[in-house]
Amino acid sequence: MLSTQRHKIRRLRAAASTFADDVREGLLAVPRRLPAKYLYDALGSLLFDAITALPEYYLTRAEREILERESDAVIAAAGTPDEVVELGGGSGAKTQVLIEAALRAAPAVLLHAVDIAGDALEAAAQRMVERYPGLAVVGYAGDYEAGLEALRLDGQSALMLFLGSNIGNLDPHDAHALMSQMRAALRPGDSLLLGTDLRKDPAVLEAAYDDALGVTAAFERNILVRINRELGGTFDVARFRHVASYDVESGCVSSHLVCLRSQEVRIEALDLTLRIQAGETIHTESSYKYGEAEIDGMAAAGGFVRVASWYDAAHSFALTLMRAK
Ligand code: AVJ
Repeated sequence: MLSTQRHKIRRLRAAASTFADDVREGLLAVPRRLPAKYLYDALGSLLFDAITALPEYYLTRAEREILERESDAVIAAAGTPDEVVELGGGSGAKTQVLIEAALRAAPAVLLHAVDIAGDALEAAAQRMVERYPGLAVVGYAGDYEAGLEALRLDGQSALMLFLGSNIGNLDPHDAHALMSQMRAALRPGDSLLLGTDLRKDPAVLEAAYDDALGVTAAFERNILVRINRELGGTFDVARFRHVASYDVESGCVSSHLVCLRSQEVRIEALDLTLRIQAGETIHTESSYKYGEAEIDGMAAAGGFVRVASWYDAAHSFALTLMRAK
């Protein structure tokens, strides 16, 4: 069989709103904000891949360390799934470790991959089916909600992956809601493997989100480049500075773009003109960090029971397996 017959990509329409609507709403809000999911255009996906190679950004390496050590244990604890669902896997490097483990345990595996970055998803799906003869891939190019809505499981047992502390982009209320949506897409007895970054020294966290090379700053500022390109915007991107600050109380690293010089910004596609003052901020991303109690809370809120957790040697990151009730 040709490998091209073993993967297909479905481009999902955004359920409720579009980039243009969300940009208008966010830029007119007080304080201003832009949804983090729009950081991942083609350049944004490349910049995020570069972030994962930075010395300060330990998350990806820590999670990979756990997966390399424990993937067979994860697959066994999940009841040898024949279907794997991944939300937001990006370029798919970590997914491969689990897929290899799944294919050691089962002769054939179907991967459902949901990602907002359609082109990166397509490339990853193609690479994966070429590499693993026992694997078929269905890609869903869209946000998590649209992907979960479109998902249909018909195998024996499914393992859902939500890795990379991607859940950390959501505030606790929205995280609990997404846990319920993931649960609703699964059947009783199916599993969820959740990757969460853990609370730690604020200096370590702030460095992870404001690296010396400035790659994270480029990643966050790229959302303004995207608005300029796709919506006919006139942001003076060089006059915004990326700032990341950790709040110990909430466990959240907040990323903001701070306007360095008062500017008038025209966004043609929105027929909108804004005056942004020096010192004004645009919130671009929240990256929540977790303690054990909060991980339990997420399991409970979604209708899961916690089965097991695994940690890297430095105890900076957790992978938690949960079973759908
Ligand atoms: C992909 C959402 C997990 O919050 O750590 C990395 C994105 N932003 N550096 C994170 C990100 C800045 C990342 N997630």
